[in-house]
Amino acid sequence: TSLAIRGTTSLLADAGDLVCAIDSGRYQGNPYPLYERIRAAGPVYRGLSGTYALTSHAAISAALRDPRLRVRKTSGRLAGASTNALADTFLSMDEPDHGRLRRIAAPAFRPKLMRQMRAGIEATTHRLVDRLNDEFDLMTDFAAPLPIAVISDLLGIPEADRTRFAHYGQIVGRAFDGLGNRGLVREYQAAVADLRNLFTRLMNERRTNPGEDVISALVQAEDLTADELIATCRLLLLAGFETTVNLIGNAVVLFDSHRDQWDLLKGQPNLAPRAVEEVLRFESPVPALLRHPHEPFEIGGRVVPVDGDLVVLLAAANRDPEVFTEPHRFDITREDAVEHLAFGGGAHYCLGAPLSRLEGDVALRTLAEQLPGLRLTGAPLRRKSTVVRGYLHVPVTK
Ligand code: HEM
Repeated sequence: TSLAIRGTTSLLADAGDLVCAIDSGRYQGNPYPLYERIRAAGPVYRGLSGTYALTSHAAISAALRDPRLRVRKTSGRLAGASTNALADTFLSMDEPDHGRLRRIAAPAFRPKLMRQMRAGIEATTHRLVDRLNDEFDLMTDFAAPLPIAVISDLLGIPEADRTRFAHYGQIVGRAFDGLGNRGLVREYQAAVADLRNLFTRLMNERRTNPGEDVISALVQAEDLTADELIATCRLLLLAGFETTVNLIGNAVVLFDSHRDQWDLLKGQPNLAPRAVEEVLRFESPVPALLRHPHEPFEIGGRVVPVDGDLVVLLAAANRDPEVFTEPHRFDITREDAVEHLAFGGGAHYCLGAPLSRLEGDVALRTLAEQLPGLRLTGAPLRRKSTVVRGYLHVPVTK
């Protein structure tokens, strides 16, 4: 069972339970026909396992803003908590704790700060591009190191700690792909503990010697405990490591099979921000979210019961023909791409959206300008995760 669709099992995939089929990961290569079958079932799909799913853009926009639908069950429980590095973070909390902690972290993503970060992100991007060999792995040599460097700057991780920080972050992030054996679980738990020690040391340093970074801002806030502070840092670390990397990887793979779109971007690098929106729409890095009703939730003539599992298929909403003309066509000039729900909606709307848009813009613009001949040299290797959609390896040549 993956973290995305917690509480479901994969056993029923063959018995025609389409939501379980998604979660099993067997349709990972191309899940979109499966989404269309779920969409055809009407406004709300009910799987044999009792899991419900939404595919429509309008229904999902409304559901994410509906106070009856929460992240946790009425018991306060969250399934799969022991290997879910986000379980104790505000991403996995409801009001009032969610709002209290989100408000403390939010100033780190102010538009003015984002604008100030642009020059640094450009410098990092150019440094990475300058170091590339003729043949390289897009993921390990470019798509991953860029957001890791950016979030390390934002958190104010000292140079001397950066390699270790990246190492722990990658081990913890791998939990999204499933921790298949006990060795991996132990490694994961050790990395969570190591991160805790690192964050605790940095918190103590910043208390006496504050800087401009997020950790300094968090230690000055009065309204949170040390555990909450550490969890918030871990959330920002993981969000920084595990999402934008997929935006960049998905973009390059899409452009490789849509050469006309790559030619367009090369000719007009100012299309980069629009290309980012279209990649987010067409291959959403976070394809699904999970919610639970705290009151019976009626939709499309059905009632999702209290504490039922409601899967919100963002990636299906992003190909809803009611909103997007020719939804299955990848077109970076389309006007409607920005309507996508790749960053979610409502109270939990992605806090890092402005940052990942900025990173995506700089990354795609720089690739189009400096590596116009970029193309795949072999088959990309897809991640197994159904929580995040992206690649482990993408072999390319300049
Ligand atoms: C929440 C997607 C990048 C920080 C979310 C949610 C989505 C999402 C769908 C909503 C989760 C829910 O409602 O359950 C993405 C995508 C990204 C991205 C597609 C990149 C392409 C980032 C980055 C950061 C970040 C770079 C920060 C460094 C957060 C945080 C939340 C969040 C803190 C929790 C918000 C809350 O619960 O109030 N993201 N994200 N994200 N994201 Fe992102």
